Amino acid sequence: MTLSNVVDFVIFILPCYIANATPVVLRNVFPFRTPIDLGRKFFDGMRVLGDGKTYEGFISGVAVGLLVGIVLTYFGLHTIHGSIMLSIGAMLGDCLGSFIKRRLKVPRGKPFPLLDQLTFVITALVLYNFLITPIPLEYYILSILITLPLHLFTNWVAYIAKLKEVPW
Ligand code: CTP
Ligand code: MG
Repeated sequence: MTLSNVVDFVIFILPCYIANATPVVLRNVFPFRTPIDLGRKFFDGMRVLGDGKTYEGFISGVAVGLLVGIVLTYFGLHTIHGSIMLSIGAMLGDCLGSFIKRRLKVPRGKPFPLLDQLTFVITALVLYNFLITPIPLEYYILSILITLPLHLFTNWVAYIAKLKEVPW
C-alpha cells in the first residue's frame, strides 16, 4: 500500500467523514430536535434510535457531504452520485449504530467503542460497494486504520471546542 493509495482513499471517503461530523458541529447553530424515531419505543421498551439521531442532523449531514462531493467532482476527484451515496451511507450507518446500542441497552450518548467509530464508515463503504461500484479490499482495511485514531482525535477536539459534552 503506497502513500498515494492512502491519499486516494482519504479523498474518496471525505464526503462520508464530513457528513458524519456535520450534525455535531451544526447542532450548536440550529435547534436539532426532531428525533428520527419520533420518540417511539421498540419492542424491547427502549427507544428505537434515541434523541441523538434527528432529521435535522441527518439532512444537514447529507447536504454538507454532497456539497463537499460537488467541490471534489468539480476537480475531477469524485462523482456526485458516489458522494451522495457515501453521505447517506454515513448517516444511515450512524443510525444503525444507535439502533444496535439501544438494543444492547446502552443509553444515548454513552460510548460504545468500535461501534461508535466504525459503523458509519463501514455502512457507507458496503452501500457504495453494492449500489455504485465494488470497493477494493484495502479501502476497508484503510477505513478501519484511519477512522479509529481520526474519530478519537476529532471527538476530543469537538469536546475541547465545547461542541460535545463528552470526549467520545
Ligand atoms: N446528531 C443529530 N442527528 C443525527 C446525528 C447526530 O442531531 N442524525 C447530533 C445529536 O445532537 C447528537 C450529536 O450529533 O447528540 C452527536 O452524535 P452521536 O455521537 O452520533 O450521537 P449520541 O448523542 O452519542 O447518541 P448515540 O448514543 O445514539 O450514538
Ligand atoms: Mg456519541
